[in-house]
Amino acid sequence: MPKIKLCVNVDHIATLRQARGGLEPDPLKGAAVCEKIGAAGITVHLREDRRHIQDRDVEALKKIVKGKFNLEMALSDEIIEIALRLAPDQITLVPERREEITTEGGLDVAANLDRIKKVVGIFKGRGTLISLFIEPDPVAVERSRDAGADYIEIHTGSYCNVFGGPGEGAEIKRIYRSAERAVEIGIGVNAGHGLNAGNLPPVLKAAGLEELNIGHSIISRSVFIGLDGAVRELLDVINGS
Ligand code: PXP
Repeated sequence: MPKIKLCVNVDHIATLRQARGGLEPDPLKGAAVCEKIGAAGITVHLREDRRHIQDRDVEALKKIVKGKFNLEMALSDEIIEIALRLAPDQITLVPERREEITTEGGLDVAANLDRIKKVVGIFKGRGTLISLFIEPDPVAVERSRDAGADYIEIHTGSYCNVFGGPGEGAEIKRIYRSAERAVEIGIGVNAGHGLNAGNLPPVLKAAGLEELNIGHSIISRSVFIGLDGAVRELLDVINGS
């Protein structure tokens, strides 16, 4: 079975930096540490409100990231223009609302199918992979394939919220069913949101899972054991060691 890859979301380092408006901690330095320890790539979300990651961050990261550089973005003309100039290895389309604390819920692919198809067409022509961040729902998986995406990223937030409680079984089944449908119809499977060393093992059993995007738990854990230790800890879980 191919190894599942870890892409670290370094937005949370930028959140800390923006709290003081200075230069520390630097998400670029964080990205370099993550890759040195074995992360397969780096993920950032350039939000329309520029709450954490800034334009200068994405430009600098594009130059230093050695593995996959994955840009999460809303269906916004302004951000699409930046992404076209930047040419990341992958874009992940996410819903975005100004008042949210973090990305809530998946993209409504059916409701935005024409727009998403158009955006997918533009980026595909330039060799950029396209992933759609969706709820664990087999119908949303099918619509993502209809839109021409290369990957779905299964939103694991609902599962993480009920992990260890009575709803866990039902939520992990939704993830498994969606991943199975993706494999059946030939679209790649990524997953992320809310994952940590404790709730990750069941998710690793999802069919066809290629890549995980994890941020908050890694940066939180790094306060106590360092960023290198936090990345290593998750890689050990992923690799079953
Ligand atoms: N994937 C997507 C599409 C996201 O929006 C986020 C949150 O920025 C993540 C993964 C990572 O989630 P977390 O920070 O909870 O690990």
